[in-house]
Amino acid sequence: MDTVHITDVAPRDGLQNQKIAVSTDAKLHLIELLAAAGVRSVEATSFVSPKAVPQMADAAELVPRVRAVLPQLRTSVLVPNLKGLERAFAAGAEEIAVVLSATETMNRKNINMGLEQATEVSEQTLHEAHRLGLRTRAYVAVAFDCPFEGETPVSEVTRLTERMLAAGAGEIVIADTIGSASPGQVRDRLGALRERVPLDQLAVHFHDTRGMGVANAWAALEAGVRRFDASVGGIGGCPFAPGAAGNLATEDLVLMAERSGLSTGISLDSLLDAVAYAETLLQRSLGGRSSAWLRMQRAKREQEQAALATA
Ligand code: HMG
Ligand code: MG
Repeated sequence: MDTVHITDVAPRDGLQNQKIAVSTDAKLHLIELLAAAGVRSVEATSFVSPKAVPQMADAAELVPRVRAVLPQLRTSVLVPNLKGLERAFAAGAEEIAVVLSATETMNRKNINMGLEQATEVSEQTLHEAHRLGLRTRAYVAVAFDCPFEGETPVSEVTRLTERMLAAGAGEIVIADTIGSASPGQVRDRLGALRERVPLDQLAVHFHDTRGMGVANAWAALEAGVRRFDASVGGIGGCPFAPGAAGNLATEDLVLMAERSGLSTGISLDSLLDAVAYAETLLQRSLGGRSSAWLRMQRAKREQEQAALATA
């Protein structure tokens, strides 16, 4: 069966912008629940300035704990520069992701560098990561629209993708940072990109601001992409991109893929346990578009099983 590879980014993208502080123990437990549901790849945290993103200040403590408890789990971490890479390597990270935005202003707001400097720093970080023997991903953020500069030219997205690929990025992650893309745009942009990037190195990262997340994921599947980021419960958003809402929910993506005959290796029932746990952590109701229905189905099955057991 055709397989969809999902990286759950909830521990990083989902938690980086929350008002409620989440402990390292709780982050580890969330990651354990994801792994128990069959998730094989997570973005666990980011090695960024703790002043810029206080929620990720415990990255150096979290990574060795995840690696010790879940050695089989593919665990990536976001790093914005060489200092982040150095910290990630010291903590035992095996995979890093650099974050390059496709516009001048978004880079300045996010990582305090202009586009050219951000490109060069990302290249240097990828080279150094290879030297250290780490796997690498490169985000190309605001790949559809920038909250500051409007529609991002396709030519910029392809140019920066090629630079990241030439610098050795193992995976290019095309990111719709503010969730403004439509399926037609996804089809067109991925159509241009797959001429340049081998499909098994191309991933997508959708935010679901306008309810287009699943439709965009379908357009990406139709374009041949099989690598997706998603976030359990749909939590997420970049603190430096105004208007960014949560990510495409992992449960929505899994339901859509499995119902379309694609295998994810992820149990929806068990994923609901991770959603419920995230709700207790963040003290509000969470979940993708499908969560209410999924919960109802599970409750119905549990009732039927209980009735059978007492019959
Ligand atoms: P800066 O202030 O320009 O950095 O920040 P600097 O090089 O001038 O250094 C200032 C201080 O920060 C120094 O410390 C450095 O050592 C320290 P001091 O001397 O003042 O004590 N520093 C660091 N500390 C820890 N880790 C580091 C690091 N680098 C420097 N890596 C910087 C530049 C990039 C650090 C800052 O702007 C930053 O951390 N930004 C955070 C960016 C971020 O996390 N954004 C959210 C994630 S991206 C995202 O969500 C989008 C994505 O999901 C895809 C999508 O949806 O599009 C990936
Ligand atoms: Mg994101």
